[in-house]
Amino acid sequence: MGSKIVSFGHYQPARVLTNDDLAQMVDTNDEWIQSRVGIKERRVAGAEESVEDMAVQAGGKALAASGLSAGDIDLVIVATCTPDQVMPATAATVQDALGVAGGAVDVNAVCSGFVYGLAVGAGMVATGLQRVLLIGADTMSRIVDWDDRGTAILFADGAGAVGLDAVDGPGDLLAYDLDNDGTGRHLLTADIGGTIEMDGREVFRRAVRTTTDSALRTLAKAGVTVDDLALLVPHQANVRIIDAVTQRLGLDPSRAVVTVDHHGNTSAASVPLALGEAADAGRLATGDLVLLIGFGAGMSVASALVRWHEPAIAPGGPGEAGA
Ligand SMILES: CC(C)(COP(=O)(O)OP(=O)(O)OC[C@H]1O[C@@H](n2cnc3c(N)ncnc32)[C@H](O)[C@@H]1OP(=O)(O)O)[C@@H](O)C(=O)NCCC(=O)NCCS
Repeated sequence: MGSKIVSFGHYQPARVLTNDDLAQMVDTNDEWIQSRVGIKERRVAGAEESVEDMAVQAGGKALAASGLSAGDIDLVIVATCTPDQVMPATAATVQDALGVAGGAVDVNAVCSGFVYGLAVGAGMVATGLQRVLLIGADTMSRIVDWDDRGTAILFADGAGAVGLDAVDGPGDLLAYDLDNDGTGRHLLTADIGGTIEMDGREVFRRAVRTTTDSALRTLAKAGVTVDDLALLVPHQANVRIIDAVTQRLGLDPSRAVVTVDHHGNTSAASVPLALGEAADAGRLATGDLVLLIGFGAGMSVASALVRWHEPAIAPGGPGEAGA
């Protein structure tokens, strides 16, 4: 038994925060942010908007687009590092709000969370579950120190979801790689109730290396090469990291999806938002090979090779904010 992605759902908060807005808050400017990071604007949650709200929105769209009823779902997985509370799990609220049956569990691999969650969900399907709703959702704006220009410019909020359904045969997840280097866990942290602290330069250096290495391991496991890839969907943290990885892999830059300019770093939502936007823009055709890669605090990294087919896309996809 394998699994395939049967639908998408996305949610981005309505509130836009531009670089000029940030320049009113800390000593920075649009030129510096664009040249060092590649971000022009990002979305942040409203005062009353929780990560659970965003996860419910994205998950609800993926459920509706799948054509399945809530009772068909066996498991909800929410990848997040910014839950609204320590317990219960964010997935428990999502399950209740959507009226979904079955199990509910959170996964925290920070910005690698969605790709880890995909491997977890597909593994569950391989061992007996039929349908999984997987959501990556984060409100990074809640743990950013808005007085720290080194981190305030980077992070953002959002949610992206997919429905997974069981199929006979190997399914669309061809290979994956999960890794973590715990010796680097001090490089990017946020204590409970605290804000993000980061060694930006070292995180940058490790991100380029681990992302490239994980990508190559996954391609080797699947017995394919970079030349076989139609699209690379990397974690959207910094356009210079994406460029460096693309160059190291020897991939044509036009095949790398870049949405960080308007998404910012949405952590676990980053990969599904970027994938959904690429699909929405018609950049994928049935049979294409797509490589998803996440990296983040931990230092975690995860990559997954997916054989694309046309899933239903939720109306009001990634480009549409607010509702
Ligand atoms: C954070 C990051 C953008 C900083 O860029 P950098 O090129 O490493 O910049 P540095 O930290 O070396 O700072 C260079 C200068 O710019 C200044 N600076 C830092 N942030 C600034 C900002 N937002 N605006 C203006 N100047 C800034 C620094 O104070 C420093 O000034 P100095 O030379 O006078 O001391 C970059 O390291 C990065 O993106 N790292 C990866 C972070 C990441 O992706 N984290 C999430 C992983 S999931």
